[in-house]
Amino acid sequence: SVFENPQKASLSVAQRIGNLIKEKQKNNDIAVLGLATGATPVAVYAELVRMHKEEGLSFKNVVTFNLDEYYPMQPDAAQSYVSFMNDHLFDHIDIDKNNINIPDGTLNLEDIPAFCLEYEKKIGDVGGLDIQILGIGRTGHIGFNEPGSAPNSGTRLVTLDDLTRRDAARDFGGKSFVPTKAITMGIGTIFKAREIILMAWNRKKASIIKKAVEGEISSEVPATYLQLSEHVEFILDEDAASLL
Ligand code: GLP
Repeated sequence: SVFENPQKASLSVAQRIGNLIKEKQKNNDIAVLGLATGATPVAVYAELVRMHKEEGLSFKNVVTFNLDEYYPMQPDAAQSYVSFMNDHLFDHIDIDKNNINIPDGTLNLEDIPAFCLEYEKKIGDVGGLDIQILGIGRTGHIGFNEPGSAPNSGTRLVTLDDLTRRDAARDFGGKSFVPTKAITMGIGTIFKAREIILMAWNRKKASIIKKAVEGEISSEVPATYLQLSEHVEFILDEDAASLL
């Protein structure tokens, strides 16, 4: 769907997440959310916080799994995705801290494969992701699945693309300070979600959105894999959709 502006688009995504949480509450069930970072979902989180504060939406029955984290990364660093999620969402809602899952950027290299398997298992143990929200990087990455990622890939350590590190340079005060690696859910992990929502706003996303939606399916643009799923929806503003 194409919305007039990012604000309206974000409200509709937040509404869907809120409805899912309430639906699950009625049945005494948990809602399992796959969450993303970056500028794109910020207004979605702001609206969820507003729904919590003003409408009493509770997150007690919510379990979350974030897509990715830089590696190496200390959780208390300003640029960590832990800090991002705390600042934009978790510190402002009533979620149980034990229900929050974010890949651990502090592990030793040798421990990462076991951690990644455990991350996949944890998602499975709570019944799988009800909804996964995604942004898109200019390389066509979803999560940090850079060009070359396999369609059945699982959670793993990856090397970041140069363009991705350049785009992150501002947050880190220069590209040389951006970690070279990340731990990310795989394309296969994302695909198992019962519903996938990819959001993109602004002119600078228009060309990658055109490739993702209309381009040939290829590992060169990992987001093109989404064309293969029937549970995917692209939520765009008019600028991001302008080349479609
Ligand atoms: C990072 C994140 C992605 C996100 C992308 C786009 O690379 N790992 O999950 O989609 O940035 O960021 P933005 O939303 O700021 O454009």
